[in-house]
Amino acid sequence: NHQTVSQYLKNHIRTVPDWPAPGVQFRDITPLLQNPKVFRVLIDAFVHRYMDPALRPDVVAGLDARGFILGSVIAYELNVGFVPVRKKGKLPFTTVQETYELEYGSATVELHTDAVKPGDRVLLIDDLIATGGTMMAGKKLLEKLGAVVTEGAAIVDLPELGGSQKLIAAGLPLFTLLDFA
Ligand code: PRP
Ligand code: ADE
Repeated sequence: NHQTVSQYLKNHIRTVPDWPAPGVQFRDITPLLQNPKVFRVLIDAFVHRYMDPALRPDVVAGLDARGFILGSVIAYELNVGFVPVRKKGKLPFTTVQETYELEYGSATVELHTDAVKPGDRVLLIDDLIATGGTMMAGKKLLEKLGAVVTEGAAIVDLPELGGSQKLIAAGLPLFTLLDFA
C-alpha cells in the first residue's frame, strides 16, 4: 500500500531540467496540489501517520514556502496549531535566526520567539529534502526555543545529496513518501 501511494504520487511530480540553475533537476510538486484527488491522497498519507497518538505533535512547523502549503492543512486536520519558519525579513515580531547553505545558494530563516513553548513536540514539514540544510536550520530554530522536533517529514527525498542521512545522524527521525535517486 505504501509502495502504491508512493508510485502514484511520484507519477504526479514534474521534473524540470536545469532549473533554477544548470545541472539541477527540479522536482516540482505543484501538480500534486492541482489535482484534488492526488492532493487528498498526499495529505492523508501524512495525517494518517500523525493521527497516531504516539506520533501526534503539539504543533506543526512548516518551512517556507512549500512546507506552508502542506503543513497548514496537516495541522488543521490534526487539530493542532501551525507555525511558519520564514525566509529572513518577513516576520514582524522578535525572532531567532539561522543561516544555511542550499543546493543552489544560501539563505537565512527566522522563527517568532513565541512560536513554540519549551517542551512542545513539533512536527517539521517541507516538500523536499535535498542537502538537508533547510530542515536542519528549522530544527535548530525550534530547539533554540526549547521545543523538541519529534520528526521531520517531506514528500520527496533526494538521497544522493546526503541530506536525509545527515538529518538522521543529527538525531532527527525522518518520514518521506518517495525518493528520486
Ligand atoms: C527548496 C525546498 C526545500 C529546500 C530543500 O526550497 O522546498 O525547502 O529547497 O533543500 P535543502 O534540503 O538543500 O535545504 P527553496 O530553497 O527552493 O525555496 P522556496 O520554498 O522559497 O521555493
Ligand atoms: N530544493 C533543492 N533542490 C531541489 C530540487 N532538485 N528540486 C526541488 N526543490 C529543490
